[in-house]
Amino acid sequence: MQNVRMILDVDTGIDDSMAILLALKTKHIKVEGITTVFGNTDVAQATRNTLQVIEVSGVPYEVPVAMGADRPLVREWRGPVTHIHGNNGIGNCELPMPKGKPLAESAAEFIVRMVNTHPNELTLVFVGRMTNLAIALAQDPSIASKVKRLVIMGGAVKVPGNVTPVAEANISGDAEAAHRVFESGIPITLVGLDVTMQTIIGETERLQLMASPVPGNEKAAAFIGEAFKFYFEAYEKQNGFYGSPLHDPLAVAVAAFPDLVATEEHYVRIETKGTMSYGATLVDFRRTVPVTNASVALGVDSPRFLDYFINTLKS
Ligand code: RIB
Ligand code: CA
Repeated sequence: MQNVRMILDVDTGIDDSMAILLALKTKHIKVEGITTVFGNTDVAQATRNTLQVIEVSGVPYEVPVAMGADRPLVREWRGPVTHIHGNNGIGNCELPMPKGKPLAESAAEFIVRMVNTHPNELTLVFVGRMTNLAIALAQDPSIASKVKRLVIMGGAVKVPGNVTPVAEANISGDAEAAHRVFESGIPITLVGLDVTMQTIIGETERLQLMASPVPGNEKAAAFIGEAFKFYFEAYEKQNGFYGSPLHDPLAVAVAAFPDLVATEEHYVRIETKGTMSYGATLVDFRRTVPVTNASVALGVDSPRFLDYFINTLKS
């Protein structure tokens, strides 16, 4: 299996935490760095959460963390999503004070430096707002042709949105940034609500994740169990079922195993002007277009993904 060298961009976040753990524990992924952004929580808290989750994971190598944007490119930030992710972003779980610190360079500077140093080798996985990448592209547009692939958790192409009838949180959280990324020429795989809403876990899987942890994985297993409990309760209040979709972990999984999803080539446009449709990911299904900008995931092998997720997080 080919190694995947990854930069992961997160707004940590309960499902972001699970995505980080999945990436760090997948044998053929090497996480070359994690960049942080505002979103589920503010960027300072997201950075702290990220450092804590890395330390809880027991990953045997150094993972640099670079702090990024604290607000969208042009609009106001709507504030943290405490009703889903808790006051601290990770379901109010108390993790030990992190020993590590973020780098002195910003997330955008880190992305520009790494992509230029390792052209066509790095897979970027973005599971929050696309602000850091839009800033990186403004600093150096040439990185667009040097990224191996960009996997985005975001958007809702054929299904309803989750923050408005038509828009998903990561895209509508900074649609101007998403627009610049989709028009940049970077090869994109879009892992949106079309597929993430088909990857639901519940109490049976949560108990499996916590049961009989292997030596060295006790702290991670306890954190996973507690954070999912908070997330499931939040989903129950909001959506009426005790469980949750695995939005961000699915994007990491697709970077590791692209054949987990069935994709179609489309030109995805981001709505930045509409009052009711701001942040929509629009595809014109009426005709075939000569130029496309994204492989859009529309089907997913959920049982295979869930097996991989559970077995890897338990390792
Ligand atoms: O819409 C789901 C996305 O919004 C996930 O990335 C979640 O962490 C939040 O950022
Ligand atoms: Ca996220």
